[in-house]
Amino acid sequence: MNAPAPFNKHANNAATAPAFLSIWNIESYYGESYIVQDVTFNVHEGEILALLGRNGAGKTSTLRSIARLDSPEVRYGEIWLDHKPLHEMKSYQAAAEGIALVPEDRRIIPGLTVEENLQLAQIAPPKGWSLERVYDLFPRLGERRKQEGVTLSGGEQQMLSIARALCRDIKVLLLDEPYEGLAPVIVQEIAKTLGVIRDQGITTIIVEQNAVAALTLADRAVILDTGSVVFDGSAKEVLDDEALRAEYLAI
Ligand SMILES: Nc1ncnc2c1ncn2[C@@H]1O[C@H](COP(=O)(O)OP(=O)(O)OP(=O)(O)O)[C@@H](O)[C@H]1O
Ligand SMILES: [Mg+2]
Repeated sequence: MNAPAPFNKHANNAATAPAFLSIWNIESYYGESYIVQDVTFNVHEGEILALLGRNGAGKTSTLRSIARLDSPEVRYGEIWLDHKPLHEMKSYQAAAEGIALVPEDRRIIPGLTVEENLQLAQIAPPKGWSLERVYDLFPRLGERRKQEGVTLSGGEQQMLSIARALCRDIKVLLLDEPYEGLAPVIVQEIAKTLGVIRDQGITTIIVEQNAVAALTLADRAVILDTGSVVFDGSAKEVLDDEALRAEYLAI
């Protein structure tokens, strides 16, 4: 089905120069269910933005909207990446522009080793990181390169899932609950790696239930509540504001 071209209800915004990644007034639907409700925020190049909120706030739906997956359907608004209109693109085109979504379930391909999972991601040009560079960042993956990917521990699978994204030439990493089910020491290890990835110039949006871990890592934070933005500011502000955390994050 051809979706109608999204449009911007707030045309005056179009006069503003877009940030590296700009989400402008997007409205996304699952069928008739209106889920992402006029969401606007900017992400600056090379920063880590924590996208937070309670269960069902619309975090995953927002990430899926940015990655241009078919569902939810973005009916209104604009998404710009580096002056390119993602809102006019299909998911494969957004991927070619450098958007990588690492979904909650990690999607390691059964029957393939760690290395084969990575090599598969390298097939489509332009190539991203070399295996050597990936193993340098994730030594655990290097040690287990011949092991079947699905037999890795949860933390190692998360690393493989992030590493696989880096094997493509990406600009933006969208992480949906990368710390879910992981021990604090592994969370710390992955957070350290995400810091290194930021230092290499990659822009990251991290969605996390473990808000404190995400905020400790992130530069800025956006909080969603029932599909709308209720906070946009520095990560430190959220860490320092007990009332805000209690109201929207229940921590
Ligand atoms: N495929 C779908 N069809 C219909 N409604 C959906 C679908 N997926 C999600 N929703 C609804 O959209 C709303 C937002 O869901 P979403 O998964 O984006 O929230 P979330 O913030 O990621 O929550 P969580 O923290 O639990 O992962 C919820 O009310 C959810 O029930
Ligand atoms: Mg979710």
